[in-house]
Amino acid sequence: MLEAPDQYTRCTAAAEHIRSLHAATLTLGIILGSGLGDFASQVEDATTIAYADIPGWPLSTVAGHSGKLVLGTIGGVNVAVMQGRVHAYEGYSMAEVTFPTRVLRLLGCTGLIVTNAAGGINKSYGQGGLVCISDHINLTGTNAALGPNDSRFACSPASGQRFFDMSTAYSARLRQIAHAEAAKQNIPLPEGVYLAVLGPSYETPAEIRAFRTLGADLVGMSTVHEVIVARHMGIEVLGLSLVTNMAAGVLDQAINHEEVMETGKRVEKQFTALVKALVPQVAAQ
Ligand code: 6GU
Repeated sequence: MLEAPDQYTRCTAAAEHIRSLHAATLTLGIILGSGLGDFASQVEDATTIAYADIPGWPLSTVAGHSGKLVLGTIGGVNVAVMQGRVHAYEGYSMAEVTFPTRVLRLLGCTGLIVTNAAGGINKSYGQGGLVCISDHINLTGTNAALGPNDSRFACSPASGQRFFDMSTAYSARLRQIAHAEAAKQNIPLPEGVYLAVLGPSYETPAEIRAFRTLGADLVGMSTVHEVIVARHMGIEVLGLSLVTNMAAGVLDQAINHEEVMETGKRVEKQFTALVKALVPQVAAQ
């Protein structure tokens, strides 16, 4: 029987396909969360590739996740912008959820800006606010680095280890840059701990109270897996959340996906201005 190709081999095939359409070595990956996909229009000299055309790339089944990889430059930096991502709640395995992040590394990325739509647990947050992720709590019940360790993805000899550090997962350097730029643009940018659940159900009010006690400020269903494999590979990470709604029980109202998408649209301008200005600063090392 023929053995299935390992993840490195499958990611290499995807990276080679992408490189055949867009030869530049990349510096920075940007993953856009729900409702934030329009940021991809900021990419100059863009090569746009549908996920469906990239061998092995997982396809999103959720409305609002359009499914395109946009390669080009922002402020002179070679970027890959992911418009849409897949989530574990769609039934994808960890290997599939982390596939795009692994491919970004093979294309040269040493930095990652990861964004998401999140529910606000911290009562000082408001709907439509941006938050800089300071740390995360992974309650998804699984781990992105599950499976055989493969050090071939690593940025440096120090990364790619079986057991790897997560104490500086969200780069202090990049957080400082984000705060300085947000202050310059008069955009409030508090910090917060992002707690990830598997989903797809939103939380109960009791779960949200419990998560607040655990130290969470935000709740969502993405990001932690991408950040875990990014750190495995030695990639520097900046995480930004858009508080699209307050979590269950914080306000006296139900949560729906349409609201999540609408809030994204409303804050798009601020988000775009902030991230666009951050790209050259994040890439300058
Ligand atoms: Cl309230 N919960 C989760 N898990 N994800 C979200 C959310 C809430 N709001 C936006 N995304």
